[in-house]
Amino acid sequence: EKEKTLAMIKPDGVSGNYTDGIKMAILESGFSILRESIVQLDEDKAVTFYAEHSSRTFFTSLIKYMTSGPVLVMVLEKENAVADWRALIGPTDARKAKITHPHSIRAMCGMDSDRNCVHGSDSAQSAQREMPFFFKEMSSGTGIV
Ligand code: CMP
Repeated sequence: EKEKTLAMIKPDGVSGNYTDGIKMAILESGFSILRESIVQLDEDKAVTFYAEHSSRTFFTSLIKYMTSGPVLVMVLEKENAVADWRALIGPTDARKAKITHPHSIRAMCGMDSDRNCVHGSDSAQSAQREMPFFFKEMSSGTGIV
């Protein structure tokens, strides 16, 4: 059974020219890229997207970072897409990724736990919210979004 997930290349990944390398890793890992779009998040959109983190100490810097330049959002599809994309990007803290998961995408292009270069939905339920956030036609019709 195929599954879909939302992948995002964050502003430093886009400005640092990691887009082609990341897309190559995605395709080599057996994902299909069903949708892709370059988006400039404004504060409102970033706050809504990351609403679950709004009480965290890193929230203000997260919003500033995520609105600092365009991001590339993609819908990826394969079996076990949510977990496999999370495995491919590596741990949230890119400094840790460089040590424990040296071949991960965050090891390649991330800086630290804030500027970690890429995002992936953390569950199938999150994916169902995040995909239609960027691609309206992907609404599941369950009333979540
Ligand atoms: P992301 O996978 O996009 O989801 C939440 C983001 O918040 C995360 O990547 C990081 O960019 C940022 N962040 C910063 N510090 C932390 C932290 N301690 N735990 C989780 N996320 C963090």
